[in-house]
Amino acid sequence: MKPPNRRSSVLLAFGTLLLMSISHQESEWTAPPREARKKSPIPANKANLENGKGLYSAHCLSCHGSTGVGNGPAAKDLEKHPGDLTSKQIQSQKDGALFWKISTGRAPMTAFKDTLSATERWQIVQYVRSLGIPPIVTLVPEFASPDSVRTALGALFDAYDALSASLVEGDEKASNKLVPGVKSAVEKLRALPVDKLPKEFTLAWEGAVKSSESSLEALEAAESLKARRSAFEATSRNVEGLWRRFGHANKAPLHVFKLANGKLWVQADGKPRSPYPKPSSESAEIHRIAPAQPRKSGHKPPGPTPEIKRGDRQ
Ligand code: HEC
Repeated sequence: MKPPNRRSSVLLAFGTLLLMSISHQESEWTAPPREARKKSPIPANKANLENGKGLYSAHCLSCHGSTGVGNGPAAKDLEKHPGDLTSKQIQSQKDGALFWKISTGRAPMTAFKDTLSATERWQIVQYVRSLGIPPIVTLVPEFASPDSVRTALGALFDAYDALSASLVEGDEKASNKLVPGVKSAVEKLRALPVDKLPKEFTLAWEGAVKSSESSLEALEAAESLKARRSAFEATSRNVEGLWRRFGHANKAPLHVFKLANGKLWVQADGKPRSPYPKPSSESAEIHRIAPAQPRKSGHKPPGPTPEIKRGDRQ
């Protein structure tokens, strides 16, 4: 048999290397189910989170970066990207799976089971979880709406917030009494004289009034507490859109939470109440809408200019 020539053996070697690297890259890193099922023995509290943060800075930040996206100072010299700890791929893994990966490591990431205690590793898991919560963004509304519009939107928000409190408390009677307040606030929106404003504004406003009316209809049609809660979740999305576009004249910022089921929830204060039926720890504040002052120009073309602020991660 003719021996393979130099060229083909180089090709062969190259091909083998390529295959090896592909199979290496593609080999998924999965925690054994038994390990993944392990629950964190430590409570989710500030002390554990802060300890976790300190340990993360000392042992993980060099590769994973301060925000967890994988851009630490040492990351560029690694043969493999450390991955994005904020991503769904990693955040969807169970606490036990993350704990196991941190404990056992996989080159070039070292194992931490001998350097850190189990409690310390669980504290790191808790901190890694907090990296998955997006930073809070304070939004600047798209339109510099006139005072009358912002005040009316502020009043609508107050009516919504009162209703939301009754729904969280599960007080069906109180919620029945509060729906008319939302109705009269929506009627006031409809009655605002906005026809002298730039056409672009009035067109956007027309849409806003319509969507408020249809979400009100859903609230009114809801016949049980459960149905009203679910209608309120949809309503929250509408309200969030209104403030995002037109601003409001309330004193405090409006807090927008994302619930575990992906829906939005708006409320006046920043303490996650328990947006049912999930515990509040599964909802995360995603942005705030600060009270806006009308701009001098009167109107700014669409395209919000968000001012990014890192919120305190909890
Ligand atoms: C030397 C750099 C380095 C250090 C330090 C390091 N990691 Fe990693 N980490 C990596 C790399 C590279 C990977 C990807 C490993 C793989 O997919 O084979 C990784 C993977 C991970 C994963 C799993 C990602 C997945 O795909 O499931 C987690 C979780 C993780 N690291 C957390 C940590 C934590 C927490 C620390 C600190 C205790 C830490 N790492 C320290 C480099 C590092």
